[in-house]
Amino acid sequence: MTPNTAPSRAADGPAEAGGSRPATVVEFDGVGLTYPGPPPVAALRPCSLAVREGEYVAVVGPSGSGKSTFLNIVGLLDRPTEGTYVLDGADTTALPEAELTALRGSLIGFVFQAFHLIPHRTALENVALAMLYSAVPARERVQRARTALEQVGLAHRADSLPNRMSGGERQRAAIARAIVGRPRLLLCDELTGNLDSATAASVLDLLDDLHASGMTLVVITHDPVVAARAARTITIRDGVLSETVTAGTPTEARRLPEVLG
Ligand SMILES: Nc1ncnc2c1ncn2[C@@H]1O[C@H](COP(=O)(O)OP(=O)(O)O)[C@@H](O)[C@H]1O
Ligand SMILES: [Mg+2]
Repeated sequence: MTPNTAPSRAADGPAEAGGSRPATVVEFDGVGLTYPGPPPVAALRPCSLAVREGEYVAVVGPSGSGKSTFLNIVGLLDRPTEGTYVLDGADTTALPEAELTALRGSLIGFVFQAFHLIPHRTALENVALAMLYSAVPARERVQRARTALEQVGLAHRADSLPNRMSGGERQRAAIARAIVGRPRLLLCDELTGNLDSATAASVLDLLDDLHASGMTLVVITHDPVVAARAARTITIRDGVLSETVTAGTPTEARRLPEVLG
């Protein structure tokens, strides 16, 4: 399927019996963003696509092509100027700001190139702080943070400050922070941009593990080595999304039973 074909309707129906969640995590229907300018910049041309539960999608394109614009919309950091965005079954289009913030906090984990760890807090504190505005009771936060650090192979660095950690360790801590709230979607923007290639490979191995455990991943990158890890690649050029589908990719094999019409 290409991003410009009609989107799935999976997220439109009621959740399946038993309270299971929609199988489509991200659904764009004619979503576009034009910065008003002047002059106006059509940073993302209207596009339609679906990212299903458990998918690992890379979004590639040269600098200035619209990757961050795309990420900001998917991550509810920016509103599209046209189209409809359904996230995990919820139409976000007309939601007030406070509800967007709440959805973002509960459904999306972010990992950025620059780690963005708080310098005077330990790895454990950095991860636990991600739950500050969540419903997780305070006493549970530390335990959950420890578990997340174990998941990323950083249990032994729990009490370290970021400036005593290597770049790879910092990015692992940032990933622990992103997943501690058990998001539906992990969004990564050039997450290996500050890492040497061996360290980058081990961070990408970690993403592979998360994917294997069922996490839905959207990874923005200009690096073909990073994109090669994903089962599905979407390209952006001059704000236009396109996709080439290779038959028999791991995505096809992993895809959940088809629920679409
Ligand atoms: N706030 C903004 N106002 C106007 N134009 C913008 C703004 N942000 C980005 N752009 C423009 O939108 C296009 C896409 O930018 P961006 O999404 O940041 O690309 P990428 O992340 O691929 O480098 C570029 O032409 C950029 O100059
Ligand atoms: Mg960018």
